[in-house]
Amino acid sequence: MSDPHADAQLSKIDILAHKNAEALLGGGQTRIDAQHTKGKLTARERIDLLMDEGSFEEIGKFVMHRSKDFGLDKEYYLGDGVVTGYGTVHGRLVYVFSQDFTVFGGSLSETHAEKIVKIMDLAMKNGAPVIGLNDSGGARIQEGVVSLGGYADIFYKNTLASGVVPQLSAIMGPCAGGAVYSPAITDFVLMVENTSYMFVTGPNVVKTVTHENVTSEELGGASTHSTKSGVTHFSCANEVACITNVKQLLSYMPQNCEETAPMLPYEAVGDERRPVLDTIIPENPNQPYDIREVVDGLIDADSFLEVHKNFGENIVVGFARLAGRSIGIVGNQPAVLAGVLDINASTKAARFVRFCDSFNIPLLVLEDVPGFLPGTDQEWRGIITNGAKLLYAFCEATVPRITVITRKAYGGAYDVMNSKHIGADLNYAWPTAEIAVMGAKGAAEIIFKREIAAAADPEAKLAEKVAEYQQKFATPYRAAHRGFVDEVILPSQTRQKLIKAFKMLENKVDVLPRKKHGNIPL
Ligand code: HXC
Repeated sequence: MSDPHADAQLSKIDILAHKNAEALLGGGQTRIDAQHTKGKLTARERIDLLMDEGSFEEIGKFVMHRSKDFGLDKEYYLGDGVVTGYGTVHGRLVYVFSQDFTVFGGSLSETHAEKIVKIMDLAMKNGAPVIGLNDSGGARIQEGVVSLGGYADIFYKNTLASGVVPQLSAIMGPCAGGAVYSPAITDFVLMVENTSYMFVTGPNVVKTVTHENVTSEELGGASTHSTKSGVTHFSCANEVACITNVKQLLSYMPQNCEETAPMLPYEAVGDERRPVLDTIIPENPNQPYDIREVVDGLIDADSFLEVHKNFGENIVVGFARLAGRSIGIVGNQPAVLAGVLDINASTKAARFVRFCDSFNIPLLVLEDVPGFLPGTDQEWRGIITNGAKLLYAFCEATVPRITVITRKAYGGAYDVMNSKHIGADLNYAWPTAEIAVMGAKGAAEIIFKREIAAAADPEAKLAEKVAEYQQKFATPYRAAHRGFVDEVILPSQTRQKLIKAFKMLENKVDVLPRKKHGNIPL
């Protein structure tokens, strides 16, 4: 605990050394030990793991709170519960704040908030990502509204920084109450399993209001938010895995919205054909397959970083590299719900598309979609508005955009999934593609309803009409004749084609009509 008057007997040099040593101890060794006992690292240990060795420069190390109420006039800690500064990750500049749970439970005071805002301002002016390592008991209770104001200042900066520099939030302890809204505004949220949780109101309030008995982990742990709510994009086994994940994520991103992501050096492997891709689509069009096998076949080895892996699993999104270039992939997943688009899949993919577009990351869409999910549950919860988010996100994306239709492209989902009509630059189809208003059986039942009913053998008539519809429309060629599909290509050729096409598109310039901002259907 820092006593502002305790330094009187020391030399000036010693005072500095003394203060530095004190700041490094945060809330003191006992609390550091308690943090370790919980299986958690300290704020500074986390920064050491994140940053390139020796690169971290601290800003505001000696900041102290200005409160006097409830005994705070006698309790000060240098740094006031958050370590802030800048450094490099893989040689690239980043700004970081790391909340120190050993100081007033990492709670946010006026000065703690000011430190965070200060590095956010620097990040925006200098065009580099902001990484927040969150571990906090929320608003500093002794400070009241001053602390709430501090939160609002951060939310405001988060919003201004959105789309300017990447913002990543790693949740490594409690994050409760209104505090959750800062991570929620940032681009990616990562949570550590079993030691972190996020909720607007905790289990006690839940019990009082709704009479539900629920633990913190069930209510807002990593597993809940990575599967049920989608609040977190990544669920990490431990803190080290979480920080490794942050670093990996950063490697796919540019520093800011004016730049492109760094290309990794790449040497072509032969002619880039991938014969394995010719074997993935099953003979039977109703049989599922895993779209990740297609992704793996197309991209540079082991380069896929899947986002939101366990949420809205009927769509797969993530970053990858193609001949060293960072790309964003959105793929319908036929292995889950036949790859249908529903509310979760739409919002998940829409957010990812908007991130990639904000930061100049080209988009590859792999399409195998039978349509939107029918039913009262989806309709009543707003599949219309939510599906429109994905449509809107693709429509306004100006980054290079390529679609590969691997199999089904039915109905409105054909339009939505980055069709040429809504601005895709190139649209390829595999010979297995089926591009139509709906599946052949449903279509035949509607348009040949009378003919089938009047037939001596309605079943046989239906089969005949299904076959007719299938032959006409369950192919890529009608669309190719119109130019809606640019080329029908072999799966094994696809990687070659994509490498060339993304290179061709690398200087693409496309602008939206002048406006204040669009009004995405939220
Ligand atoms: C001040 C706090 C604090 C807080 C914890 N501490 N939270 N001090 N303000 N919000 C202090 C404790 O007094 C304790 O001090 C130390 O931090 C560690 O706390 P413990 O309770 O001993 O730790 P633990 O058992 O791990 O429990 C952690 C906790 C609990 C679950 C976070 O501390 C807790 O429930 N805190 C209050 C949470 C809360 O209600 N916050 C306000 C939410 S509303 P010592 O001296 O013993 O080390 C909010 C509004 C934001 O945040 C709105 C923004 C718009």
